[in-house]
Amino acid sequence: MIPADVEFLPETPAHDTEIEHINEGAFGPGRFARAAYAIREGGPHERSMSFVAMRGGQVVASVRMTRVAAGQGRALLLGPLAVRPVLKNLGIGRRLVAMAVEAAARAGAGAVILVGDEPYYGPLGFKRIPRGQIAMPRPVDLNRLLACELEAGAVASLTGEVIHEDLVGVAAAVA
Ligand SMILES: CC(C)(COP(=O)(O)OP(=O)(O)OC[C@H]1O[C@@H](n2cnc3c(N)ncnc32)[C@H](O)[C@@H]1OP(=O)(O)O)[C@@H](O)C(=O)NCCC(=O)NCCS
Repeated sequence: MIPADVEFLPETPAHDTEIEHINEGAFGPGRFARAAYAIREGGPHERSMSFVAMRGGQVVASVRMTRVAAGQGRALLLGPLAVRPVLKNLGIGRRLVAMAVEAAARAGAGAVILVGDEPYYGPLGFKRIPRGQIAMPRPVDLNRLLACELEAGAVASLTGEVIHEDLVGVAAAVA
């Protein structure tokens, strides 16, 4: 059960340093080489759909969302999701995923995608994206490319390389 003194808040720039520490602890220096990180480098994340869990004035967990595009399709990329080790397995991660997905739905997004473990995200509404439908900028285990569809047809409309949404016009101009 989530401890009663843990509160969930929308992320603000004041949380950035602590979030970085949590992600460093959870994913190590190798995080910068991850496919999802490469996409997130393309532009800012979406603070209005990103949340932190706080306890005693400190950030103890975080989830971020980033707007992405793949072909004609648009989605939110969920991640990183990380919880401080001392507070793992209390439901905080699940709550943050639910909050991020709900925020995406409220904002009218069609889908949320991520690279993650199906046994964890499956019960939270995520399913595998059919192999070969989308491509990531760096190699990923295709079994870990998952999507939560919020609007019928939104996942099928995602095709080709996943990029930060801010790069859509840029990519077209270069082509
Ligand atoms: C993965 C992580 C975010 C889960 O957050 P959490 O708050 O500890 O997890 P929750 O309390 O929401 O859920 C716990 C349940 O998920 C299970 N679980 C945790 N990680 C899992 C995984 N990778 N695969 C399958 N199940 C997992 C736990 O065994 C537990 O199961 P139970 O409810 O049957 O006991 C957290 O452990 C973490 O920060 N890990 C390191 C970073 C990471 O791997 N992030 C995910 C990137 S995709």
